[in-house]
Amino acid sequence: MPKAKVNGVEVEFEPGMTVLQVAELAGEEIPRFCYHERLSIAGNCRMCLVEVKPGPPKPQASCALPAADNQEIFTNTPMVKKAREGVMEFLLINHPLDCPICDQGGECDLQDQAMGYGRDDSRYADNKRAVEEKSMGPLIKTVMTRCIQCTRCVRFITEVAGVPDIGLISRGEDVEITTYLGKAVASELSANVIDLCPVGALTSKPYAFNARPWELKKTESVDVMDALGSAIRVDSRGPAVLRVLPRLNEEINEEWISDKTRYAVDGLSRQRLDRPYLRENGKLRPATWAEALALVADKLKAAPADRIGVIAGDQQDAESMKA
Ligand code: SF4
Ligand code: FES
Repeated sequence: MPKAKVNGVEVEFEPGMTVLQVAELAGEEIPRFCYHERLSIAGNCRMCLVEVKPGPPKPQASCALPAADNQEIFTNTPMVKKAREGVMEFLLINHPLDCPICDQGGECDLQDQAMGYGRDDSRYADNKRAVEEKSMGPLIKTVMTRCIQCTRCVRFITEVAGVPDIGLISRGEDVEITTYLGKAVASELSANVIDLCPVGALTSKPYAFNARPWELKKTESVDVMDALGSAIRVDSRGPAVLRVLPRLNEEINEEWISDKTRYAVDGLSRQRLDRPYLRENGKLRPATWAEALALVADKLKAAPADRIGVIAGDQQDAESMKA
């Protein structure tokens, strides 16, 4: 197997691995926005810059560079530090600093990496650009001014979901992510782009302004909405389940979940059976619970025991069934 040195530590790697993957093998963390293990390589955010020898005397994008035998990789030199600060400063030329009102706040890669690898100020005083909102359907909320054009959403929708509904139009300063002809994203996996988006450009519309990540209790669970049994995480605040996110399970759902799995939790709080109805002369009329329960009790008392049956779902707990 070929060998490379990462910050002086020798590691063996599989042929075909990239410099970023080899650095991770050696336990080094490489910041990134566009790179994702399950998507094709785009190499357009430049956050993953490292220094390699032999090689040109300039930083190299490690996600797009194949590792070579006897290569030396440096992730902590002054050149790398300066390059990362530069990339971060460029990304923030146009990215709004609206973290206090952004739903991604607290779980934002840009926020975290700006803290870890950025400078403490910017030398740009120019106005930031503004980008029109896009309509991506009832699940995905867009704030396109925040987009850093990493194209993860485009690659996911095209390569994993298999519906080329999101794309990148224009060039340079005018570049924009959009759905073609402003239509909703027609895939039952569409909301995974919310998790993939490293900034707050694509967030969850039903969950908008509901909670901050540090308020939530996270419970690992398994989805029951389809036969797949996807690994999920249920986030709740007090008694309220607020959202469902995917959990990594290589054998089952990798790290994706369907929109039904993600959004079925709204059934716990919306459109509940909130009022009983009584049928009188063939018509339903709204009634109180006391009235309805009294009627049920009368009917049960009047019926012979062997004529009474109960249908219960398999999600009912044993105590309720006994009652
Ligand atoms: S919307 Fe998000 S995921 Fe898509 S390109 Fe912009 S930053 Fe990347
Ligand atoms: S992660 Fe390498 S260029 Fe974006």
